Amino acid sequence: MGAGIAVQNMSLGEEIVGRINELGAISEDADKLTRIYLSKELRIAADLILGWMRDAGMRADLDAIGNVCGRYEGDRPGLPCLMLGSHYDTVRDAGKWDGPLGVITAISCVAELNRRGQRLPFAIEVVGFADEEGVRFASTLLGSRAVAGTFDESVLATRDRDGVSMRDALVQFGLDPDHIGAAARTRRELLAYLELHIEQGPVLEAQNLPVGVVTAIAGATRLAARLTGMAGHAGTVPMALRRDALSGAAECMMAIEQFCRTDTHGLVGTVGYLHATPGATNVIPGQVSFTIDMRAPADMHRKRGVTDVVRQIEAIAKRRDLSLQLDVTHENRTAPCAPWLKQQIARAIAAEGYPVFELPSGAGHDGMAMIDIADVGMIFVRCRGGISHNPAEHVELADADAGARVLLRVIENFRPREG
Ligand code: GLV
Ligand code: MN
Ligand code: MN
Repeated sequence: MGAGIAVQNMSLGEEIVGRINELGAISEDADKLTRIYLSKELRIAADLILGWMRDAGMRADLDAIGNVCGRYEGDRPGLPCLMLGSHYDTVRDAGKWDGPLGVITAISCVAELNRRGQRLPFAIEVVGFADEEGVRFASTLLGSRAVAGTFDESVLATRDRDGVSMRDALVQFGLDPDHIGAAARTRRELLAYLELHIEQGPVLEAQNLPVGVVTAIAGATRLAARLTGMAGHAGTVPMALRRDALSGAAECMMAIEQFCRTDTHGLVGTVGYLHATPGATNVIPGQVSFTIDMRAPADMHRKRGVTDVVRQIEAIAKRRDLSLQLDVTHENRTAPCAPWLKQQIARAIAAEGYPVFELPSGAGHDGMAMIDIADVGMIFVRCRGGISHNPAEHVELADADAGARVLLRVIENFRPREG
């Protein structure tokens, strides 16, 4: 295994874990970690990360959508960059590692180059994307889509659960919604996009390996459904005369689960959010909103699965005399990692003394958006028990250190794609 790199008597892993804990303490909930897009806490987290970037010798600022962006110049100013990134927003009741590990590790690698006074024949940029999880507004990957120049302006009008529009939230955060276009970068400015992320699954642990090379990021579709029936008295309306929106939603959920369980192509479907109104023990629910998240290793199977599930939901709504509004809020095709980047990551892993192991990502990542302007490569770091999107998410210090050493090697030996 490679020799440890010391930062003021700390290994890179120790520095990273310390910062993971510091960032993980910034939450809008006192007893759990929740840091959603454009929240007050996201702003506090942004300032902390910007400080780390500046300490690492980078010029650093917020961009027009709230991403934290740092730049470490190459051996002369203005060169195209190798972009490193991940996200610093979280899901609700999150773990500390999903996203921040990639941002913090990238900063530690740049800090190490800076300590050595080492400049490379390209610039390095580190981006902490402000919204990868898509928890707050209708869409997702908002931070990386803005950087890729594919941000959909119609999302500005969508509202969060409290009725705040994205446009107003941006203003409250101190940003100008009419200038999101300024965050966009071009293919000419980027040599590649590289992301280090926890695996969020159990494969590396089963292989007894701290790191792996990602082959592709699986595509995903998200939908928002609303069923409307008729609110009524729980004691007076006979069962046969009810138009109960929540019972209809329950039937839809069971249909999704059943369909995905019996699928043989790795299709997964999740209803992660559901809200029934008016929400009282003695009132028949008149309206229910819920979300659907569907993924599969192959785009063709995901698309077929979505079509089938939509058909079933329509049939359930019709049979129960419920009106249905169903919108696709997010659709991303599978993003393959570039072979030339996989090769450079594999070389770094081997040089650190680990077997090279390739695996796909079932989770979504900012590379799905960045692929529109750059070739994408990803390094996975083992997490305990394959647990993620859960406060029990955990990475061992030695694995964080291994990930950092691999990423540093990739950076130092990076060769842009020829031709
Ligand atoms: C992000 O974590 C996603 O895969 O939804
Ligand atoms: Mn993530
Ligand atoms: Mn996540």
